[in-house]
Amino acid sequence: MSNPASDIRNQFPGLQNTVYGRPLIYLDNAATAQRPAGVLALQAQLGERENANIHRAVHKLSVDATNRYEAGRSAVERFLNVDPAVGCVVFTSGATAAFNLLATCFSARYLQKGDQILISEAEHHSNIVPWQLACERTGAELVVVPVEEDGTLSVAEVEKRLTNRVKLVSIAQISNVLGVVNPVREIIAAAHAKGIPVAVDGAQGVVHAACDVQALDCDFYIFSGHKIYAPTGTGILYGKRRFLEEMPPYMGGGDMVDTVSFARTTYNTLPLKYEAGTPNFTGQACFVPALELADTLRYSAEVKAQERAIVAYLAEELLRIDGLRIFGLPDDLSTKIPLFSLAVEGTHPSDLAQILDKLGIAVRSGWMCAEPLVRRFSDRGMLRASFLPYNTMAEAEAFVAGLQRAVKMLK
Ligand code: ALA
Repeated sequence: MSNPASDIRNQFPGLQNTVYGRPLIYLDNAATAQRPAGVLALQAQLGERENANIHRAVHKLSVDATNRYEAGRSAVERFLNVDPAVGCVVFTSGATAAFNLLATCFSARYLQKGDQILISEAEHHSNIVPWQLACERTGAELVVVPVEEDGTLSVAEVEKRLTNRVKLVSIAQISNVLGVVNPVREIIAAAHAKGIPVAVDGAQGVVHAACDVQALDCDFYIFSGHKIYAPTGTGILYGKRRFLEEMPPYMGGGDMVDTVSFARTTYNTLPLKYEAGTPNFTGQACFVPALELADTLRYSAEVKAQERAIVAYLAEELLRIDGLRIFGLPDDLSTKIPLFSLAVEGTHPSDLAQILDKLGIAVRSGWMCAEPLVRRFSDRGMLRASFLPYNTMAEAEAFVAGLQRAVKMLK
């Protein structure tokens, strides 16, 4: 098999870095992806030569910046296969901002005392805490569906909690800890059969799974740009228009208004109703090159084959390390993405991560912004290695060797 990663790697200057004099092996992609040259070049170009506020002025620079920003939105709409008659893409500063927008505005319009929001045990804090805040404000309750021991989410476990008190299901397509693709399509169908809308946390899913919002028929879809090659401070909330029209605005300010008077203010049409203030117009414009690359990668058979090989290799080789446990390891590896969270008996994940760092291998350790889930499986946190198409099999091998070495030093 040819090595697709070596061609892709050339597009990422960040991957040429060395740390402590060693070549960087970057395996913290579930936290933030490296940015390709096309994105870095556009960021620089917009900053140097096309910097003007959007949607406001008639001068050329402003019109050009507006067009760039809206081209970023069109790129996201294409990537998610949005039907503009059904839904639209609201720009936010990231997935966290999108969840806070959704929880605040959805609860203001639809939640009352005694209602329920259904999430899974494997949610990121940004799909937990905004709902807890909404529940505190409204008197609604958060109901949590447990995951199975192997990290899978059972549709039946979701289904049995879909009572008429549930007003929204909000669920990750792929947990950032477990790395297993959840059956969101089946969950959405089950919820819709009872008239319950579904929000999908696509922060990892947009990178590794099918994210066609028409095929999924989700009511909301959320992701951050920085995990899919775009700059930080970018993200989106996709929503069906019928909800976005009915929900109240989020923040007030410029651009989200139609007319303002001291007696009464009216609001802009979608999606600008939810985009108060000067947005990150440079960052959102970079969705064009970022998603162009992501689009090429998601349809590459070579990339898919390499990803499957890395998953199979790690699932086998990691378990050879004495006392090592992988969290999120279903029998059916076709649902496992190249993201492995683990703990090794008798060692602390942070110590392991620090030794790996000295070997030039960047991984994440700790609670992964998903403390309830991590605590269920490990009272010391976990260590996570997460891969993108630019990572090679040689890097996977170096990770296993580095981990073996670190475990030996600590035990
Ligand atoms: N949510 C990010 C992660 O999983 C930061 O690391």
